Amino acid sequence: MDFKVRHLENKDIPEYLHLTKYIDNETEFLSVDPKDPRPKFMEMVGAVAQKNQLFLVAQHKDGYLVGHLGAFWRRGKGKRVRHCIHIGLGVVKDYWGKGVGTLMFKAMEKWAKEQGVTRLELDVMTNNERGVALYKKMGFEIEGTKRQSICIDGQYIDEYMMSKILED
Ligand SMILES: CC(C)(COP(=O)(O)OP(=O)(O)OC[C@H]1O[C@@H](n2cnc3c(N)ncnc32)[C@H](O)[C@@H]1OP(=O)(O)O)[C@@H](O)C(=O)NCCC(=O)NCCS
Repeated sequence: MDFKVRHLENKDIPEYLHLTKYIDNETEFLSVDPKDPRPKFMEMVGAVAQKNQLFLVAQHKDGYLVGHLGAFWRRGKGKRVRHCIHIGLGVVKDYWGKGVGTLMFKAMEKWAKEQGVTRLELDVMTNNERGVALYKKMGFEIEGTKRQSICIDGQYIDEYMMSKILED
């Protein structure tokens, strides 16, 4: 395998910030616009130190990063929702279809079980065929459609709400 998935470390943060910006500019399947602000270096250092959310990176065997996956709790991990996490991810286009997304999902699921999480959730644009295929392959189901929840250059796009319940 040419890739490994591991937790983000402080030494990765400059490359991670470049990677997220790069992927934001490459795809229209993310809810973030390339011009939206992304966290700054010190905010990321703080977020990683807090250990209150998951930051995974996919690293090529030659050392550089090709993907990221984040998972976070709503409401500051409030008691009633701490069994649920929301997931977002991105892979550099040149590396699509090589199993990087799958690898990050498997690592995320292992981590989620260790955290006592029983529900995984995400939103995906209905036209993101590759994303929807990956999530279905990983056992996610469509729960509903968020109508016109994304607007890109005046064009509305629907999103699927997808989830997976983790059994023992
Ligand atoms: C969605 C994304 C994360 C998938 O990552 P990836 O590394 O390409 O995923 P994988 O290679 O592990 O798996 C992709 C799965 O998609 C499916 N797939 C592959 N090629 C496809 C294609 N051309 N069309 C539709 N589905 C396809 C397959 O089911 C494949 O799994 P398989 O090879 O085991 O059969 C990546 O394409 C990406 O970053 N896209 C842009 C950002 C984005 O959409 N983020 C998610 C927002 S919800």
